[in-house]
Amino acid sequence: MAGNSSLIYQNIIIYRAIMQVLYFGHYNNRFSDVIGLIPSQTKTLLELCFADLKIAQYCKNQNIKWTGYDLNSGFVRRAISHGFEATKTDIRAMDFFPKSDVIVIMGSLYHFHSKIDILFEKMLDSADLIFISEPVLNMAGSDGVLGFMAKKLTSVGNGNESFRFNKSTLTGLLDRLRLTLNFEYKVQKTGKDMLIVIKKI
Ligand SMILES: C[S@@+](CC[C@H](N)C(=O)[O-])C[C@H]1O[C@@H](n2cnc3c(N)ncnc32)[C@H](O)[C@@H]1O
Repeated sequence: MAGNSSLIYQNIIIYRAIMQVLYFGHYNNRFSDVIGLIPSQTKTLLELCFADLKIAQYCKNQNIKWTGYDLNSGFVRRAISHGFEATKTDIRAMDFFPKSDVIVIMGSLYHFHSKIDILFEKMLDSADLIFISEPVLNMAGSDGVLGFMAKKLTSVGNGNESFRFNKSTLTGLLDRLRLTLNFEYKVQKTGKDMLIVIKKI
């Protein structure tokens, strides 16, 4: 990772506050939407780019083995201090992900847009079921305070990140990848985030 990550990633309280603004107060609903999809028989769940521990906490309560990867030392330290199995790593540098029943990746796909095929290959090698919650109504391309926050404050250290998906680029990506990587997908919900369920076939 080049440079330093931005303010939003330096403290969970600041992170949640900024995310609440960017999600117009609906930051928490995204997690309950994903949690509602986790099958009751799930034994292992891998969360990529987790930041917060809401999915991890749910897994703990349900006796699901949660593993989390994130680039951010503070988030990983916090997870470990709460007793969770978290690793600080750049998931782009991993050759493969551990086998899991379910993979969750939320609010983070845009970080990998330039190497997205490889990320999907690794996720599908690891799990038959993947939940993606990805913002598709974005302010990162707009001017003004919210545009600044979305673009500048969500940088992980590679400068401003203005790339974001919208509904059609995200479904276009899935339509292209499903043919070569053999999966089916369903758009479960669309709001600020698009919630997608991917099943390997
Ligand atoms: C916008 S936050 C989303 C966090 C959380 N999943 C959510 O939806 O609220 C993006 C997260 O991705 C992590 N991240 C970005 N690039 C990464 C990489 N290459 N490897 C691992 N984690 C990464 C950041 O540290 C941050 O925690």
